[in-house]
Amino acid sequence: PENVGILAVEMYFPTSYVSQEELEVHDGVSKGKYTIGLGQDKLGFCTDCEDVISMSLTVVKSLMEKYGVSPNSIGRLEVGSETVIDKSKSIKTNLMELFEESGNGDVEGVDSTNACYGGTAALFNCINWVESTGWDGRFGLVVAADVAVYAEGPARPTGGAGAVAMLIGPNAPFVMERSYTSSQMSHAYDFYKPVLASEYPVVDGKLSTTCYLKALDLCYRRFCDKYSKKEGQPFSLADIDYVVCHSPYNKLVQKSFARLVYNDYLQSPNLVGEEVAAKLEPFAHLSHDDSLVNRDLEKLAQQVAKPQYDEKVGPTTLLPKVVGNMYCAALYGGLVTLIHNKAESLVGKRLVFFSYGSGLASSMFSFRVRAVESPFSLSAIAEALDITSKLESRIEVTPEKFGKAMHLGETRYGANDYIPTSSIKELRAGTFYLTKVDDKYRRFYSRK
Ligand code: ACO
Repeated sequence: PENVGILAVEMYFPTSYVSQEELEVHDGVSKGKYTIGLGQDKLGFCTDCEDVISMSLTVVKSLMEKYGVSPNSIGRLEVGSETVIDKSKSIKTNLMELFEESGNGDVEGVDSTNACYGGTAALFNCINWVESTGWDGRFGLVVAADVAVYAEGPARPTGGAGAVAMLIGPNAPFVMERSYTSSQMSHAYDFYKPVLASEYPVVDGKLSTTCYLKALDLCYRRFCDKYSKKEGQPFSLADIDYVVCHSPYNKLVQKSFARLVYNDYLQSPNLVGEEVAAKLEPFAHLSHDDSLVNRDLEKLAQQVAKPQYDEKVGPTTLLPKVVGNMYCAALYGGLVTLIHNKAESLVGKRLVFFSYGSGLASSMFSFRVRAVESPFSLSAIAEALDITSKLESRIEVTPEKFGKAMHLGETRYGANDYIPTSSIKELRAGTFYLTKVDDKYRRFYSRK
């Protein structure tokens, strides 16, 4: 098969959100700490009638309906998530309910889990399958979905929730350039979930950002190396039109792009232009570890990178800023934002992605964008995503109500024998929701 990649995308995020500006006041932190310090505008969250399974059901059903994809035409379904509802039963098995009527149970794949990286593992699995001798001609389907919630404290404003589904196959508009893919995998305790009775992670916030930026550097250097070995010419930001980074909060994405500029400078000062090179020169001889914690370099690199950031990263940031960290879905929320903003004008462009999951697993990979016929044309995808009306249908709630929802979530996590109490009135038509968890912990869903 040729031009294997992403054919179509659907996204869901909850209707309820809290404003970060209001949260600053409520939490008694200094003005601007969440909005400027973290770069976040709003935080979307699930009430007790929604969870990672309902969001996944919503995006899969909706994608199949919007693109007229029959359940029989899907041969692999992979879910990436770190939201643990069950330690054995995969979210994928819940999604098979949507295939029952069609009689298609011949669907490979289960869940992949490693913090925010699972969606990328799922994507690679599906692409590899289509490119393999095991491929039977049917579509792959990837779901990246998570509910990101933190205990009260500095990490709580970096929560969020969402799900993205991606249809995988040949002749795609987003063609993966598989051979340049680079990874950095290592062992770190930066963010992990060892307390099985709680949905909240244990986080070393500062360590997690350093681990993230270090992994980014290593992936970028390896990506550049692989490219130049294969193509016989150096690779730099000049070869990239858009950069989509995993976004726990926007400030880290700003820092990430600044690191890419610094890496280009280290590769060759010519790559960044005389003026920028002169500014970065005092930092040329820092050790890698020192460069990661040098505050002057961090500030300066962000400053010199700003014009290119606005052009190459800015168009990918809306949804992660107004929904929040969606863990596995956050990176693909960046892709959705880019399609929403740029649609047909993406044709011919190269998009580079950086995926990071604490613990840690990370990869950098790229797509070339092609013009294809409807229903998988870029304008058709942008129209089907309908981000504007999804955003307009959201409802702002107070920080107090958000706090109560988090508290209710704590009592619901791992619980049985209850009926969700939140209203489904605000849910958009076509949204799945949780109707009951019975005494045997079995979960039941309906569609609005
Ligand atoms: N106005 C403007 N900026 C402000 C203000 C203000 N009033 N107050 C603080 N800031 C800035 C700080 O200067 C800092 O900016 P800088 O990083 O550019 O220097 C930023 O706000 C953050 O403030 P800090 O005090 O450094 O950090 P805080 O203790 O609030 O914690 C953190 C931030 C670590 C990101 C926390 O929210 C967290 O632990 N989040 C979860 C972990 C995470 O997301 N890690 C990322 C990778 S792993 C993953 O994806 C889960």
